[in-house]
Amino acid sequence: MIQDGTRTGLADRYGRTATDLRVSLTDRCNLRCTYCMPEEGLDWLAKPELLTDDEVVRLVSVAVTHLGVHEIRFTGGEPLLRRGLVDIVRRTTDLAPRPEVSLTTNGIGLARQAVALKDAGLDRVNVSLDTVDQETFKKMTRRDRLQDVIAGLEAAHDAGLTPVKVNAVLMRGVNDSGAPQLLEFCLERGYELRFIEQMPLDAQHGWDRSTMITADEILGMLTERFHLTPDDASKRGSAPAESFLVDGGPQTVGIIASVTRPFCGDCDRVRLTADGQVRDCLFARTESDLRTALRAGADDAELADRWRRAMLNKLPGHGINDPSFLQPSRPMSAIGG
Ligand code: 5AD
Ligand code: SF4
Repeated sequence: MIQDGTRTGLADRYGRTATDLRVSLTDRCNLRCTYCMPEEGLDWLAKPELLTDDEVVRLVSVAVTHLGVHEIRFTGGEPLLRRGLVDIVRRTTDLAPRPEVSLTTNGIGLARQAVALKDAGLDRVNVSLDTVDQETFKKMTRRDRLQDVIAGLEAAHDAGLTPVKVNAVLMRGVNDSGAPQLLEFCLERGYELRFIEQMPLDAQHGWDRSTMITADEILGMLTERFHLTPDDASKRGSAPAESFLVDGGPQTVGIIASVTRPFCGDCDRVRLTADGQVRDCLFARTESDLRTALRAGADDAELADRWRRAMLNKLPGHGINDPSFLQPSRPMSAIGG
């Protein structure tokens, strides 16, 4: 361990230290959610650009053993499409100190892989599900796969990948009226539902601040059907979800108000893309290349040093609400949630 305290972790210029690493394992996906991907015509990363399984594990190991990262979340695109996923998870949970390992997935294929992932040491899953209405699901994801997602959720729960969390994005006039029904579905099955305000990350640049469903609106819709009280036990800290007890608890619902109540000041995250670029923010407009150094034979200390330096570009906030805001050029599907 390096003794100089200022050089051990992934500190930025604004007093934050990243300890939560999100690793995108592929930019491909088997859904086409309208707030994320266009129907067709998005170019995939070429195979030689993608980190191999060994390269992913190497960079994750640098983060965990040299940089104080203690939470790893695998994302995509859709990470279940990555063939080596189970092995990558196993090698990650074998690291010392063992990090918490979770997965953000659309749930398709989870029914088949949940037990193997649990056995490999995976702790938890977040499953994206915006509606439990089949027609609305088809409209939002452009695929008729609702039943696969529901089966995936059940399998994850049964395998003990708990608490199973469900992420939902609401779009006006599309799935917003189904929010209470989605909450009911999750409450009945013991899943923890969190609504995420839609962010400007879609490849087609269709996001519009003026039509976006806000956290306040979501709360309003839910309180027509449920009694919500602030969940004081779950302090927000760096966790972006504001949590509410539903009908007195113990079950909760979360709201992630990334746009109307940004939590950038408490951010403890950093991202690694499937092609080996460090992104210090979902909305970053610059990236720092680790792949080239990795492939050129850099040792752990050099990779760690490059990673630390990358964090110095991290801005204090995402700036979505500024008139000068520019969307990142990489779409969400190539960054990972
Ligand atoms: N705004 C908010 N959330 C999004 N996600 C994907 N695109 C967006 C967006 N534009 C969510 C997915 C998933 C997680 C990875 O990010 O629904 O739950
Ligand atoms: Fe795929 Fe997730 Fe994007 Fe939907 S939001 S298209 S599931 S990567």
